[in-house]
Amino acid sequence: MTAAANGRLRPVIAIDGPAGAGKSTLAAHLARRFGLLNLETGAMYRALALKALETSTALGDEAALARLTASTQILLEPRPNDTNRVLLDGNDVTARIREKDVSEAASQVSVHPRVRAWMVERQRAMGAQGGVVMEGRDIGTKVFPDAELKIFLDAQDEVRGQRRYLQSAGSNDAPTPEAVLAAVRDRDARDRNRAASPLEPALDAVHLDTTGLTLEQVCALAEGLVETRMAD
Ligand code: DC
Repeated sequence: MTAAANGRLRPVIAIDGPAGAGKSTLAAHLARRFGLLNLETGAMYRALALKALETSTALGDEAALARLTASTQILLEPRPNDTNRVLLDGNDVTARIREKDVSEAASQVSVHPRVRAWMVERQRAMGAQGGVVMEGRDIGTKVFPDAELKIFLDAQDEVRGQRRYLQSAGSNDAPTPEAVLAAVRDRDARDRNRAASPLEPALDAVHLDTTGLTLEQVCALAEGLVETRMAD
Protein backbone atom coordinates (compact mmCIF):
# COMPACT_ATOMS: atom_id res chain seq x y z
CA MET A 1 0.00 0.00 0.00
CA THR A 2 2.73 2.46 -0.85
CA ALA A 3 2.32 5.50 -3.11
CA ALA A 4 1.02 3.93 -6.24
CA ALA A 5 0.45 4.49 -9.93
CA ASN A 6 -2.99 5.84 -9.07
CA GLY A 7 -1.36 8.91 -7.51
CA ARG A 8 -2.72 8.37 -4.03
CA LEU A 9 -0.43 8.71 -1.08
CA ARG A 10 -2.72 6.78 1.22
CA PRO A 11 -4.85 3.69 0.60
CA VAL A 12 -8.49 3.27 -0.28
CA ILE A 13 -10.15 0.35 1.45
CA ALA A 14 -13.40 -0.72 -0.21
CA ILE A 15 -16.02 -2.61 1.79
CA ASP A 16 -19.03 -3.90 -0.11
CA GLY A 17 -21.80 -6.31 0.74
CA PRO A 18 -25.52 -6.64 1.42
CA ALA A 19 -27.52 -4.95 4.18
CA GLY A 20 -26.77 -6.18 7.68
CA ALA A 21 -23.45 -7.82 6.81
CA GLY A 22 -21.67 -5.51 9.27
CA LYS A 23 -20.03 -3.11 6.81
CA SER A 24 -20.55 0.07 8.81
CA THR A 25 -19.24 -1.38 12.04
CA LEU A 26 -16.21 -2.85 10.34
CA ALA A 27 -15.53 0.34 8.38
CA ALA A 28 -15.67 2.43 11.56
CA HIS A 29 -13.32 0.01 13.29
CA LEU A 30 -10.73 -0.05 10.49
CA ALA A 31 -10.90 3.73 10.16
CA ARG A 32 -10.10 4.19 13.84
CA ARG A 33 -7.44 1.48 13.90
CA PHE A 34 -5.53 2.78 10.86
CA GLY A 35 -6.27 6.50 11.05
CA LEU A 36 -8.48 6.64 7.95
CA LEU A 37 -11.73 8.47 7.19
CA ASN A 38 -14.84 6.33 7.14
CA LEU A 39 -17.31 7.19 4.36
CA GLU A 40 -20.74 5.53 4.16
CA THR A 41 -21.95 5.85 0.59
CA GLY A 42 -25.35 4.33 1.39
CA ALA A 43 -26.06 7.47 3.42
CA MET A 44 -25.80 9.51 0.20
CA TYR A 45 -28.45 7.39 -1.54
CA ARG A 46 -30.56 7.68 1.60
CA ALA A 47 -30.22 11.48 1.67
CA LEU A 48 -31.25 11.83 -1.97
CA ALA A 49 -34.17 9.46 -1.34
CA LEU A 50 -35.28 11.63 1.57
CA LYS A 51 -35.19 14.70 -0.65
CA ALA A 52 -37.24 12.85 -3.27
CA LEU A 53 -39.83 11.95 -0.62
CA GLU A 54 -39.94 15.51 0.69
CA THR A 55 -40.35 17.01 -2.78
CA SER A 56 -42.83 14.34 -3.95
CA THR A 57 -40.46 13.31 -6.73
CA ALA A 58 -41.47 9.91 -8.12
CA LEU A 59 -38.88 7.31 -7.14
CA GLY A 60 -39.17 5.63 -10.54
CA ASP A 61 -38.67 8.83 -12.54
CA GLU A 62 -34.98 8.86 -13.44
CA ALA A 63 -35.06 12.19 -15.30
CA ALA A 64 -36.82 13.93 -12.40
CA LEU A 65 -34.33 12.47 -9.92
CA ALA A 66 -31.45 13.60 -12.12
CA ARG A 67 -32.91 17.13 -12.11
CA LEU A 68 -33.21 16.93 -8.34
CA THR A 69 -29.51 16.11 -7.98
CA ALA A 70 -28.63 19.35 -9.77
CA SER A 71 -29.92 21.34 -6.78
CA THR A 72 -28.75 18.92 -4.09
CA GLN A 73 -25.76 19.01 -1.81
CA ILE A 74 -24.92 16.00 0.33
CA LEU A 75 -22.08 16.09 2.82
CA LEU A 76 -20.73 13.15 4.81
CA GLU A 77 -18.87 14.10 7.97
CA PRO A 78 -16.94 11.18 9.42
CA ARG A 79 -17.11 10.99 13.22
CA PRO A 80 -14.64 8.90 15.22
CA ASN A 81 -16.06 5.47 16.04
CA ASP A 82 -19.53 6.45 14.87
CA THR A 83 -21.74 6.65 11.80
CA ASN A 84 -21.26 9.61 9.46
CA ARG A 85 -23.06 12.83 10.20
CA VAL A 86 -25.09 13.52 7.08
CA LEU A 87 -26.02 16.98 5.84
CA LEU A 88 -28.61 17.37 3.10
CA ASP A 89 -28.59 20.90 1.71
CA GLY A 90 -27.12 22.03 5.01
CA ASN A 91 -29.65 20.23 7.24
CA ASP A 92 -28.67 17.43 9.58
CA VAL A 93 -30.59 14.33 8.43
CA THR A 94 -28.40 11.75 10.19
CA ALA A 95 -31.23 10.12 12.16
CA ARG A 96 -34.06 10.68 9.69
CA ILE A 97 -32.37 8.79 6.83
CA ARG A 98 -32.27 5.58 8.92
CA GLU A 99 -36.06 5.35 9.10
CA LYS A 100 -37.95 2.66 7.23
CA ASP A 101 -39.54 4.79 4.50
CA VAL A 102 -36.14 6.24 3.57
CA SER A 103 -34.46 2.79 3.54
CA GLU A 104 -37.06 1.58 1.10
CA ALA A 105 -36.85 4.72 -1.05
CA ALA A 106 -33.02 4.62 -1.12
CA SER A 107 -33.11 1.16 -2.60
CA GLN A 108 -35.45 2.44 -5.31
CA VAL A 109 -33.51 5.58 -6.27
CA SER A 110 -30.26 3.62 -6.41
CA VAL A 111 -31.35 1.57 -9.43
CA HIS A 112 -31.11 4.57 -11.78
CA PRO A 113 -27.87 4.92 -13.80
CA ARG A 114 -28.00 8.76 -13.80
CA VAL A 115 -28.39 8.85 -10.04
CA ARG A 116 -25.52 6.41 -9.66
CA ALA A 117 -23.27 8.42 -12.01
CA TRP A 118 -23.85 11.54 -9.88
CA MET A 119 -23.05 9.64 -6.69
CA VAL A 120 -19.95 7.92 -8.10
CA GLU A 121 -18.46 11.23 -9.28
CA ARG A 122 -18.77 12.66 -5.78
CA GLN A 123 -17.52 9.54 -4.07
CA ARG A 124 -14.42 9.46 -6.28
CA ALA A 125 -13.71 13.07 -5.42
CA MET A 126 -14.11 12.32 -1.70
CA GLY A 127 -11.61 9.47 -1.88
CA ALA A 128 -9.22 10.90 -4.46
CA GLN A 129 -6.45 11.55 -1.93
CA GLY A 130 -6.85 8.11 -0.37
CA GLY A 131 -6.82 7.58 3.38
CA VAL A 132 -10.42 6.34 3.38
CA VAL A 133 -12.48 3.30 4.18
CA MET A 134 -15.44 3.58 1.83
CA GLU A 135 -18.38 1.24 2.21
CA GLY A 136 -21.32 0.54 -0.06
CA ARG A 137 -22.34 -1.85 -2.82
CA ASP A 138 -20.17 -0.87 -5.79
CA ILE A 139 -17.02 0.61 -4.26
CA GLY A 140 -14.69 -2.19 -5.35
CA THR A 141 -16.37 -2.74 -8.72
CA LYS A 142 -17.13 0.80 -9.84
CA VAL A 143 -16.11 3.69 -7.58
CA PHE A 144 -12.55 2.55 -6.82
CA PRO A 145 -11.77 -0.52 -8.96
CA ASP A 146 -8.11 0.19 -8.11
CA ALA A 147 -8.66 0.19 -4.32
CA GLU A 148 -5.67 -1.14 -2.40
CA LEU A 149 -7.90 -3.59 -0.53
CA LYS A 150 -11.42 -4.79 -1.32
CA ILE A 151 -13.45 -6.69 1.22
CA PHE A 152 -16.78 -8.29 0.34
CA LEU A 153 -18.64 -8.80 3.59
CA ASP A 154 -21.56 -11.22 3.67
CA ALA A 155 -23.63 -13.34 6.06
CA GLN A 156 -26.66 -15.60 5.84
CA ASP A 157 -29.78 -13.55 5.33
CA GLU A 158 -31.40 -14.75 8.58
CA VAL A 159 -28.38 -13.49 10.50
CA ARG A 160 -28.39 -10.17 8.67
CA GLY A 161 -32.12 -9.77 9.31
CA GLN A 162 -31.61 -10.45 13.01
CA ARG A 163 -28.82 -7.86 13.22
CA ARG A 164 -30.96 -5.23 11.52
CA TYR A 165 -33.85 -6.11 13.83
CA LEU A 166 -31.67 -5.60 16.91
CA GLN A 167 -30.53 -2.23 15.53
CA SER A 168 -34.11 -1.06 15.05
CA ALA A 169 -35.60 -2.56 18.24
CA GLY A 170 -36.73 0.15 20.62
CA SER A 171 -37.31 2.76 17.93
CA ASN A 172 -40.76 4.31 17.49
CA ASP A 173 -41.76 2.29 14.45
CA ALA A 174 -39.93 -0.93 15.50
CA PRO A 175 -41.09 -3.69 13.13
CA THR A 176 -41.26 -7.43 13.84
CA PRO A 177 -38.21 -9.67 13.14
CA GLU A 178 -40.12 -11.27 10.25
CA ALA A 179 -40.87 -7.90 8.69
CA VAL A 180 -37.22 -6.84 8.99
CA LEU A 181 -36.02 -10.06 7.34
CA ALA A 182 -38.51 -9.63 4.51
CA ALA A 183 -37.37 -6.01 3.97
CA VAL A 184 -33.69 -7.04 3.99
CA ARG A 185 -34.38 -9.77 1.39
CA ASP A 186 -36.36 -7.34 -0.71
CA ARG A 187 -33.62 -4.73 -0.75
CA ASP A 188 -30.95 -7.36 -1.45
CA ALA A 189 -32.88 -8.68 -4.41
CA ARG A 190 -33.17 -5.16 -5.83
CA ASP A 191 -29.51 -4.36 -5.17
CA ARG A 192 -28.30 -7.65 -6.72
CA ASN A 193 -30.59 -7.66 -9.74
CA ARG A 194 -30.46 -4.06 -10.93
CA ALA A 195 -28.81 -3.49 -14.30
CA ALA A 196 -26.57 -0.59 -13.19
CA SER A 197 -23.71 -1.64 -10.91
CA PRO A 198 -25.50 -4.53 -9.20
CA LEU A 199 -24.24 -5.68 -5.84
CA GLU A 200 -21.57 -8.24 -6.65
CA PRO A 201 -18.06 -8.93 -5.40
CA ALA A 202 -15.17 -7.51 -7.39
CA LEU A 203 -13.10 -10.30 -8.91
CA ASP A 204 -10.20 -9.40 -6.63
CA ALA A 205 -12.25 -8.86 -3.45
CA VAL A 206 -11.50 -10.86 -0.32
CA HIS A 207 -14.72 -12.57 0.81
CA LEU A 208 -15.49 -12.50 4.51
CA ASP A 209 -18.56 -14.45 5.65
CA THR A 210 -19.46 -13.15 9.09
CA THR A 211 -22.28 -15.62 9.77
CA GLY A 212 -20.68 -17.51 12.65
CA LEU A 213 -18.22 -14.82 13.70
CA THR A 214 -18.27 -12.31 16.52
CA LEU A 215 -17.63 -8.65 15.80
CA GLU A 216 -14.19 -8.98 17.39
CA GLN A 217 -13.31 -11.89 15.10
CA VAL A 218 -14.44 -10.03 11.98
CA CYS A 219 -12.43 -6.96 12.97
CA ALA A 220 -9.33 -9.04 13.72
CA LEU A 221 -9.53 -10.82 10.36
CA ALA A 222 -9.96 -7.56 8.47
CA GLU A 223 -7.15 -5.88 10.41
CA GLY A 224 -4.92 -8.75 9.36
CA LEU A 225 -5.85 -8.18 5.73
CA VAL A 226 -5.02 -4.47 5.94
CA GLU A 227 -1.69 -5.14 7.64
CA THR A 228 -0.75 -7.73 5.04
CA ARG A 229 -1.55 -5.33 2.19
CA MET A 230 0.34 -2.51 3.89
CA ALA A 231 3.39 -4.71 4.04
CA ASP A 232 3.16 -5.55 0.30
O1 DC B 1 -25.88 0.70 2.98
P1 DC B 1 -27.25 1.32 3.10
O2 DC B 1 -28.28 0.35 3.62
O3 DC B 1 -27.26 2.59 3.86
O4 DC B 1 -27.67 1.67 1.58
C1 DC B 1 -28.92 2.24 1.27
C2 DC B 1 -29.32 1.84 -0.15
O5 DC B 1 -28.45 2.43 -1.10
C3 DC B 1 -29.29 0.32 -0.41
O6 DC B 1 -30.55 -0.15 -0.85
C4 DC B 1 -28.29 0.12 -1.50
C5 DC B 1 -27.98 1.48 -2.04
N1 DC B 1 -26.54 1.67 -2.22
C6 DC B 1 -26.04 1.48 -3.48
O7 DC B 1 -26.77 1.11 -4.39
N2 DC B 1 -24.71 1.71 -3.70
C7 DC B 1 -23.90 2.10 -2.71
N3 DC B 1 -22.60 2.31 -2.97
C8 DC B 1 -24.41 2.26 -1.41
C9 DC B 1 -25.75 2.03 -1.19
